[in-house]
Amino acid sequence: MTDKNPTTKSMDDIMALCKRRGFVYQASEIYGGINGFWDYGPLGAQLKKNLRDAWWQDVVMNPCQGKPGPNGQPVRIVPVDTCIIQNPKVWEASGHVGGFNDPMVDCRETKNRYRADHLLCIGEKGDKAGRMYVYIEANEKSYEAARKKLDKYKKRTLNDDEIDICSLTDLSADGLAISVGPDATEAGTLTEPRAFNLMFPTVIGATGDLEDNKAYLRPETAQGIFINFKNVVDTTRVGVPFGIAQTGKAFRNEVTPRNFTFRSREFEQMEIEFFCHPDEAKDWYVFWRDWRMSWWQEIGLAGDNLILREHDRDELAHYAKEGAGTSDIEYRFPFTAPGYGELEGIADRTDFDLKQHAEHSGLGDKLKYFDPTRGELAKNGQPKGERYFPYVIEPSAGLDRGVLAILCEAYTPDPDRPSKVFMKFHPRVAPIKAAVFPLVNKDGMPEKAAELHRELVKRFGHLGMIETDAKQSIGKRYARMDEAGCPLCFTIDGQTMTDNTITVRDRDTAGQQRIAMTDAGDHLAAALGL
Ligand code: GAP
Repeated sequence: MTDKNPTTKSMDDIMALCKRRGFVYQASEIYGGINGFWDYGPLGAQLKKNLRDAWWQDVVMNPCQGKPGPNGQPVRIVPVDTCIIQNPKVWEASGHVGGFNDPMVDCRETKNRYRADHLLCIGEKGDKAGRMYVYIEANEKSYEAARKKLDKYKKRTLNDDEIDICSLTDLSADGLAISVGPDATEAGTLTEPRAFNLMFPTVIGATGDLEDNKAYLRPETAQGIFINFKNVVDTTRVGVPFGIAQTGKAFRNEVTPRNFTFRSREFEQMEIEFFCHPDEAKDWYVFWRDWRMSWWQEIGLAGDNLILREHDRDELAHYAKEGAGTSDIEYRFPFTAPGYGELEGIADRTDFDLKQHAEHSGLGDKLKYFDPTRGELAKNGQPKGERYFPYVIEPSAGLDRGVLAILCEAYTPDPDRPSKVFMKFHPRVAPIKAAVFPLVNKDGMPEKAAELHRELVKRFGHLGMIETDAKQSIGKRYARMDEAGCPLCFTIDGQTMTDNTITVRDRDTAGQQRIAMTDAGDHLAAALGL
């Protein structure tokens, strides 16, 4: 069903289809666009909603689809919906204000932006007044380009021992003035390195100035969960182990937004923070890692395009401690092939976040959880209870990246007619669930089609679109639905008018069968796995 070799899929073709069929548009397109921002069109908005709804259903409404946790008990998850803007102290506590302050350099000529500490400069030894050429560390091509430019400037090929290399951050202002950026042609177009915070600042209050009233758009939804941990424990009947889930927008002023929606500046996350006793964190980590992987497979990313990758020790995030698990679920996108790109991270965040908020908020031990089922036994044989900071297992998924992976996986050009494309979406996420066609636009067929369309919209409209289309040949209408990823098409024809049967055509096999019109709803329900 899916293309075994992802490298045969062209990202340009997928992006063109996304635009042509109304899945994804460039944001602010009529004004020339805005880098790192994308809008979803009608089909994309519904696809995205279906993926979010599937996650919500399987995480919040029916956690882990009924699979018991490692403790043998049903998994408990409650939802929250927290603000995009919070007290700026939240981001000091989380480490985002400090941690996201990478020094950056802009090139005024090419408009490219670089991490200053990733840039090196080469020049001829002892030539303090001549040109320096800047390249990106560990990037062979960039280094070779800088060498070529230096040789050209010197009008000869320099030997390795005639060359000086230094870090860009060690250059004086005079040094910067004679340096040529990695992709530039002129000297002196690189700015001084400056702290660049990946969080978008904003101002609170109509008259507020940025310094006194600065707040931030959240760079992750997770912190909204941590700061409400106590509220949830105090106001609901949940007890550790349990999880809090939320979906929502996050914003990062990414230095190099790229690869379509993969790295955007505004994107949506689907995050679970699962609180458990520290002694049980390892088991819960394995549980969540494996269940999340099987979830993505079930939703249509089965096959070797999806992998689970355990992090190396040197990749551990600031909140992860030695021995705590971290892994990524990665998809082989056409632009990462033969490599993979992250779709979801599963991390044992230990008690880092709760402790940070306990300290920065001044709540201290009040943020600890009191577990009446643990601790030494009292004289009456009952546990005395234990007060502790729970550990947190965090499965954190990108909704937009999920949509992108699903779009790439579904994209299937017809091997016999490459201009014809099938979007082989899993029926659960397909934006259009079914289409109803009158074979011709007369003889009572449009009325019958309208009747069936109304019936299906009533029964399935909450799950996705039910289309109807009477324009052009039936073949063209099927092709339009194949390209939109509609799993089933019902057609009313001459025979329907005599025996009330219709044809149902399957997108993936193009096979047709005749069924009673009264069975159309049940047929669709079965295809949707209901
Ligand atoms: N709370 C943990 C956290 O935010 P992350 O790995 O930075 O971890 C989680 O982000 C997920 O969010 C990623 O796996 C990815 O799917 C998505 N994501 C992160 N940055 C993104 C970006 N710039 N554009 C689109 N999705 C992004």
